[in-house]
Amino acid sequence: MALTPRFPAFLHGGDYNPDQWLSYPEILEEDVRLMKKAHVNCVSVGIFSWTALEPEEGHYTFEWMDAVIDRLWKAGIHVILATPSGARPAWMAQKYPEVLRVTDRYEQRHFGERHNHCSSSPVYREKVCQIDRALAERYAKHPAVIMWHIGNEFSGGCHCTRCQERFRGWLKEKYGTLDALNDRWWTGFWAQRYTDWSQIEGPSPLGQTSNLGMQLDWRRFCTWQCKQFISMERDVVKQAAPELPVTANLMERFWDYDYFDLAECMDVVSWDAYPMWKGNAQDIATAAEFAMDHDMMRSFKDKPFLLMESTPSLVNWKPVNKLKRPGMHLLSSLQAVAHGSESVCYFQWRKGRGGVEMFHGAVVDHDGRGDTRTFADVTRVGEALERLQDHIYDVPTAPAEVCILYDQDCRWALDFAQFAQNKNMRYFDTVCMHYRSLWAQGIRVDFRDMREVTDLSKYRLVLAPMLFMTKNGIEDKLRAFVSAGGTLVATYLLGTVDGDDLAHLGNTPHALTDVLGLRHTELDSLWPEDRNAMVLSDGRRWDVGELCQLIELEGAETVATYADDFYAGRPCLTRHAYGKGTAWYQAAKLAQPGLDAFYGELCAALGLRRALEEQLPEGVVATERSDTAFLQNYSGADQTLTLRGRYTDLLTGNEVCGTVTLPAFGIMVLKEL
Ligand code: GLA
Ligand code: ZN
Repeated sequence: MALTPRFPAFLHGGDYNPDQWLSYPEILEEDVRLMKKAHVNCVSVGIFSWTALEPEEGHYTFEWMDAVIDRLWKAGIHVILATPSGARPAWMAQKYPEVLRVTDRYEQRHFGERHNHCSSSPVYREKVCQIDRALAERYAKHPAVIMWHIGNEFSGGCHCTRCQERFRGWLKEKYGTLDALNDRWWTGFWAQRYTDWSQIEGPSPLGQTSNLGMQLDWRRFCTWQCKQFISMERDVVKQAAPELPVTANLMERFWDYDYFDLAECMDVVSWDAYPMWKGNAQDIATAAEFAMDHDMMRSFKDKPFLLMESTPSLVNWKPVNKLKRPGMHLLSSLQAVAHGSESVCYFQWRKGRGGVEMFHGAVVDHDGRGDTRTFADVTRVGEALERLQDHIYDVPTAPAEVCILYDQDCRWALDFAQFAQNKNMRYFDTVCMHYRSLWAQGIRVDFRDMREVTDLSKYRLVLAPMLFMTKNGIEDKLRAFVSAGGTLVATYLLGTVDGDDLAHLGNTPHALTDVLGLRHTELDSLWPEDRNAMVLSDGRRWDVGELCQLIELEGAETVATYADDFYAGRPCLTRHAYGKGTAWYQAAKLAQPGLDAFYGELCAALGLRRALEEQLPEGVVATERSDTAFLQNYSGADQTLTLRGRYTDLLTGNEVCGTVTLPAFGIMVLKEL
């Protein structure tokens, strides 16, 4: 099923802000000509247009938007229409200060910036609904409009008295009684016991920062508030045309909300990807991380997603803002497609003349030209998507055989905890290291979290890196999975706390000691300069560091032992046959080469499907999409490789076989002949 049924095609375009150019009519005309030239077929309009749409309270000025949409449509360009809730007009902030956010230091924010709203403010909600309704009534049936884009990059939370009251209401709903809350928040510690609901305020540097249960609940509450807000907007715009899909643009490495949860309120997941390409072999790690992000986005709804924003050249907000090297734009754009994106869209179409983003990359620069290097790069992506359209659009990819458990509650719990590597537990990065080993082999991976709906039974291999928290019966699912013949790879910290961040009592990994055939005793945390390794029976040594769990075996067999320190010789990598399956346990944090070797052998032994069977040079990866392999070179240098099969490169139409050279930042889309 196409994500955008009114226009079932790969989307190519991006954020278009004509409202900044209303006094430049010739530029607005020129935009459409250049969009056609760049093979742009869809733009996102109105993301920050509230003042242009409602310059005075209740007085709407849609004429410019009418003209923009009609002009685009006459040229065959589609529109993703945004609701303007990401930034609000000055008149509104002045008249109704309650629409603005209150910080965690209880300061009332002033007008300015964006994303600065209180999502529970009745006035704000009303104003948003009014303008959303007006937009929907006017444009939802317009043939150019193919999707709704709700707000922009939702983030953060508000600490006003109303939001605090809502937090208490949410807690009452969750816990029922104060006793239950006190119990789950372990409030006996430091005399925190609450005797009346009204005493509870969310976490603040001026108040509570040390209650782990509260910290977690606050994040869940903020996710819920955001979800409510998006749902409210969704319901309004859907009234005019229920068939029009709704999305909200998500972000990389995002910490504030639980995206598995948030994704439930939208029809389509879309996101904004801004990798920091270096133009050398360091790009391999960046590519792995963004591959993981893309696969996560696909996993949130278990279906394709949209790349809503990316830069055509550079951004302006990283510490160093380097241009993409020749080839990188096509490569990184098609990486998204390889992992399931149905679009390549940019921030933004044309550089504004002022504002902090005036030097952010855009398709059209201040020189207004359609013959720049960036413009040519963008055009190439448009042409590539048109070529791929007939071959892979809406053609499903075989299901993943591997699943990585990644859970946002677990991430928050590790970040809030005070122990081991304080404030630096690197959950996301560690998950990424495990992912990278599979990505490098061309193995497709799904991500799942620990919600009730999670079903592991269809996978052959499940990875549970740093699954510090276990909840919602995930232990039973893992047990059943291994018992039925699956292979589990778990690591240090597994099953230490429960879903409320209370320590599991008794032996850990909680409720899994028999599956893994071991129990935890102590956790050692190393300084960056400390060294240890795991030693395999064949004498190989794989470096480990950071976190070393000491374990007692209760049935598992030792595959590798610690090399050094007072626990030298004790088990570090174990394997345990359980039911029809196998449970592996990595007691210490392996460095990337060890992980790559481990997963290389394991995946080969399991015979897992790979995008290409060939051994590829370091930094060259193949990713399976539909019935093709996207062969990508992130190594920063030209690479020569030998293909066993005969293929067509769908990007060029050329036949490819035998020894081929993939230039630095080169990409081919190979379909077997
Ligand atoms: C985000 C925002 C855009 C823009 C870009 C700049 O993704 O959604 O409005 O600010 O960043 O990179
Ligand atoms: Zn508020």
